[in-house]
Amino acid sequence: MADAIGNKAAHDYHLDIPPVRDGFYVKGAAHCDWGMQNRMARLFNPKSGNAVMLAFDHGYIMGPTAGLERIDLVIPPLIPHVDVLMGTKGVIRACIPPSAPVAKCVRVTYDTTVLFDEMSNGGGIACDVENAIRMNADCMAVQTFIGAPGESRSLELLARTADAGARYGIPTLGVVAVGKQMERTEKFFLLATRVLAENGANIVKSYYCDGFERVAAACPVPIVIAGGKKLPEADALEMAYRAIQDGAHGVDMGRNIFQSDCPEGMAAAIGKVVHEHYTPQQALEVYQEIKH
Ligand code: 5RP
Repeated sequence: MADAIGNKAAHDYHLDIPPVRDGFYVKGAAHCDWGMQNRMARLFNPKSGNAVMLAFDHGYIMGPTAGLERIDLVIPPLIPHVDVLMGTKGVIRACIPPSAPVAKCVRVTYDTTVLFDEMSNGGGIACDVENAIRMNADCMAVQTFIGAPGESRSLELLARTADAGARYGIPTLGVVAVGKQMERTEKFFLLATRVLAENGANIVKSYYCDGFERVAAACPVPIVIAGGKKLPEADALEMAYRAIQDGAHGVDMGRNIFQSDCPEGMAAAIGKVVHEHYTPQQALEVYQEIKH
């Protein structure tokens, strides 16, 4: 292991030079095989290079969350506005029509529920790669707990999932968890996102923060940002806009879409920011127009 004492601080992010890509447009995927690239192309729009992922996996630790009481009613109308659905195998199987023209990211790990006081010990596998293939998954999501007791176990699950995904051409999304006690700083996200990519994640889900341009530059695979708790629509659009400007390749957003008073309007507005670089104000107008 490298000696962490006396390390020189990293500073040379070359923000003015785009990442080197040779042959395939998704960051870090140029050397992957055809099947992996084909699935990546279903996740990341070939024109914009970005993805709108709709996360509705909250119930796997929280039970019925506000806005997701009836997933069969809430999520299908949003499908035309998003590129990817992110959910658990149980809910996708039960509530999403198999004919829906949308990519699927299956959350393949389980964790301790909100009734459990402590942060997860790392969880376990809820959906193995054969089951993911049976569901025709385009991506497998693994939760990780960097800087927390579940770190080692969750990194093992990530690495094993990424190995299985590489075997069958299915990308792995590594998800950075933030707990009550965990810092949400550039320093933390620089470390966490890089660690996930180094251990095999093809895509990383993380949070927007000050200094995000350095986080994105130092992560060799695309980062999609989580939305976090519900914000006013204008603020959520502003956050998505800044993230894209600073190098994110999309969003994997839940509550800021399905808890909006017009989820369809919000999904459409986020899509404009992510794929067409609308400003937050232009996107807010899209939201308002659909709402009224
Ligand atoms: C938690 C997750 C959740 O799916 C995600 O955070 C939910 O999205 P949002 O925060 O936008 O409601 O990955 O680790």
